[in-house]
Amino acid sequence: MTSATIIDGKAFAAGLRTRIATQVATFREKAGRAPGLAVVLVGEDPASSVYVRSKGKATREAGMESIEHRLPADTDQATLLALVAQLNADPMVDGILVQLPLPGQIDAQAVIQAIDPDKDVDGFHPVNAGRLATGSEGFVPCTPLGCLMLLKSIHPSLSGMDAVVVGRSNIVGKPMAQLLLGESCTVTVAHSRTRNLADVVGRADIVVAAVGVPGLVKGEWIKPGASVIDVGINRTETGLVGDVEYDTAVSRAGAITPVPGGVGPMTIAVLLRNTLVSAGRREGVAIDQTAL
Ligand code: GUN
Repeated sequence: MTSATIIDGKAFAAGLRTRIATQVATFREKAGRAPGLAVVLVGEDPASSVYVRSKGKATREAGMESIEHRLPADTDQATLLALVAQLNADPMVDGILVQLPLPGQIDAQAVIQAIDPDKDVDGFHPVNAGRLATGSEGFVPCTPLGCLMLLKSIHPSLSGMDAVVVGRSNIVGKPMAQLLLGESCTVTVAHSRTRNLADVVGRADIVVAAVGVPGLVKGEWIKPGASVIDVGINRTETGLVGDVEYDTAVSRAGAITPVPGGVGPMTIAVLLRNTLVSAGRREGVAIDQTAL
């Protein structure tokens, strides 16, 4: 059997960031300002701190303005909501991202719902979830949109394909299912209570694994030739591993994303894309989304 195409998310994301930077330069000429992305970090969770630092660096490298707010871990809800209100009202801010998870004293849903949906570049606001579900213009969560871009690099049309999403989170699983439905796939959403996961996965032309359980999806389950997108980033004693048992899946799949270097690098690139699109809408400057 021929072995799988390894989908190079790192290279794809680098290309996307270059194309974004080109359109950021045009935006800056036309609008007379840079697109602005505000990132809010509450507390000092080490993984979140790393992500926020990477987002700031990537934002600046794309020619955008990065506005970072770091609040102490014991920040109360009213203080965070007041900051969100300030960012909603700031004309230089096109995108607002409040890094999750938030400390226990804060109601994350209340914070997400306080963000102006038209600055919600994470696509987490219920208005944007509803827009995605009904097929109208809004913001799509970054990780699932990045997964879709990688899939379309392999299959320009996904129409009629059987897709299985393993995981039902608001951040990845549910929006991923909506995106695949929008591409006319036949979509199954599997999760921790699914019976006969092996059989469900085995019917799929497309498998998107986003459960956060190392190696949950076994290579022997994969239908020969299927495209496998692994969203998992799990730290184990042996290093970073995905939700798919890679070594066995790679010999059956037609295409597969590695971990690391697959989906991971796409998330920040899509965040920059969403921020540029937001800036374009807010300033009435045309952004060519087909070139992104
Ligand atoms: N935490 C992990 N991933 C994300 C993300 O995409 N957005 C936000 N806001 N927090 C996260």
